Amino acid sequence: MDTIDRSTLPSPLKKGSEVILTIESAAFNGQSVARYDGMAVFLTGCVPGDTVRAMVTKKKKSFAEARLLEVLTTGPERIPPRCKYFGDCGGCKWQNLEYKAQLYWKRQHVVDAFERIGGFDEVDVKPTLGCDEPFWYRNKMEFSFSSNRWLTASEIESGEEFRKDFALGLHAPGRFDKVIDVNECFLQSPESNRILNATRSFALDHQLIPYSTRDHQGFLRNLVIRTSLATGEIMVVPVTADTNPPLMDKYVKHIQENVPEVTTIVLAVNRKKAQVAFSEELYVLYGPGTITEQIAGNTFTISPFSFFQTNPKQGNKLYEQALLAADLTGEEKVWDLYCGAGTITLAAARQAETVVGVELNEGAVLDARANAVRNNTPNASFIAGDLKDVIAELEGGTSSTPRPDVVIVDPPRAGLHLDVVSSLLRLLPERICYVSCNPTTQARDCGLLTEAYNVEYIQPVDMFPQTYHIETVAKLVRKS
Ligand SMILES: C[S@@+](CC[C@H](N)C(=O)[O-])C[C@H]1O[C@@H](n2cnc3c(N)ncnc32)[C@H](O)[C@@H]1O
Repeated sequence: MDTIDRSTLPSPLKKGSEVILTIESAAFNGQSVARYDGMAVFLTGCVPGDTVRAMVTKKKKSFAEARLLEVLTTGPERIPPRCKYFGDCGGCKWQNLEYKAQLYWKRQHVVDAFERIGGFDEVDVKPTLGCDEPFWYRNKMEFSFSSNRWLTASEIESGEEFRKDFALGLHAPGRFDKVIDVNECFLQSPESNRILNATRSFALDHQLIPYSTRDHQGFLRNLVIRTSLATGEIMVVPVTADTNPPLMDKYVKHIQENVPEVTTIVLAVNRKKAQVAFSEELYVLYGPGTITEQIAGNTFTISPFSFFQTNPKQGNKLYEQALLAADLTGEEKVWDLYCGAGTITLAAARQAETVVGVELNEGAVLDARANAVRNNTPNASFIAGDLKDVIAELEGGTSSTPRPDVVIVDPPRAGLHLDVVSSLLRLLPERICYVSCNPTTQARDCGLLTEAYNVEYIQPVDMFPQTYHIETVAKLVRKS
């Protein structure tokens, strides 16, 4: 019998030591969690149920971090990742976890957030609504050119010589200066991969130089590809540091020959130093310069950089859930706050008396107004401005914006501004439908709103398979 009192021994959990860990759960940020002598240890590259050998890299008072050295036994839900860049590219951290398990852990994150952050004892979190096809679901990808190629572990192991001054692909995690040269990605579509590879061969054949953030020299910056699920249209947007019409004529011909499915090509020129795939200097090189998508029964025109849900199939499910939570009968006055280009606003307009959308981005509001005309929803109107200011002005109600019976909110990751929460608690609509891409801020805000509201249920919807991100719809009903 072991009579050693382990509490008197120095803990082996110190920086640099090797430990054997069994993974207990998948954490919210894509890391895994194990416990050692009761202390949480965070590490990446593992799935729940794995037993691993790891090296401790950080030891704090209440937690430690470790680096995976070897998987000793695999958890029951571990699967081989489909993509050869898995582990090097930061895009799909959960590709080694069965899809069913991904849905389970996403729901668990929502439960944890509402209990830990929102202070809820019991909350009805429904099972996550998953995707029928957990690959090929994105309608937009942004690839980067770089003169600083990041070699993957398998590229290094292969012993092959690689050209390091050119890459077209995706950033290595946390390395905004380095890019993995990607020739196959399972997130968008096979056509997207063909466009990516045709663009790379064109750039190499013409000896084009990627833009460098070190000396701000070079021509090629990004490649944005957008597709429409409803119409099959494809838009290609090369982002360059300058114009070059004869070269771009050749590029258009090259793409038409290699990927005839492409319906439009727009050149975006970014002359600024900031490395963002965005520009207002646009030149339509081929086709109409836009594509058309349908969501929640409405039609939307998408220009090169306009905001649009990136997974339209699941977007339909999300908006269906939002309308279910809003529970409209045709007679309500609705406010849709943080409305973007009006996708939810227009869907709600078909089931309400009036809907007013509020949005900070003026371009998105112009798109929203055009979308309302295009979809024949005259009962939808839009206000551009910072919501915390706009809502304060609207609180008393105006003839064009009467006080709402129902409010829909869909804020960015940071959640609701405290002033917006306070306004909602004064406005007291009958129902609030809270759409969120971040359960931690949603839980915090719902906790504050319990002063006057019951959270009836939360419906998680998986918009981003293979990642730990989760979108949720919470239905809040005013206390009687
Ligand atoms: C998650 S998106 C919601 C988009 C829209 N509901 C949809 O489904 O397409 C959040 C939106 O909030 C807008 N936004 C961010 N900060 C804002 C603020 N302070 N006031 C108003 N809108 C804001 C962003 O521009 C963005 O369009």
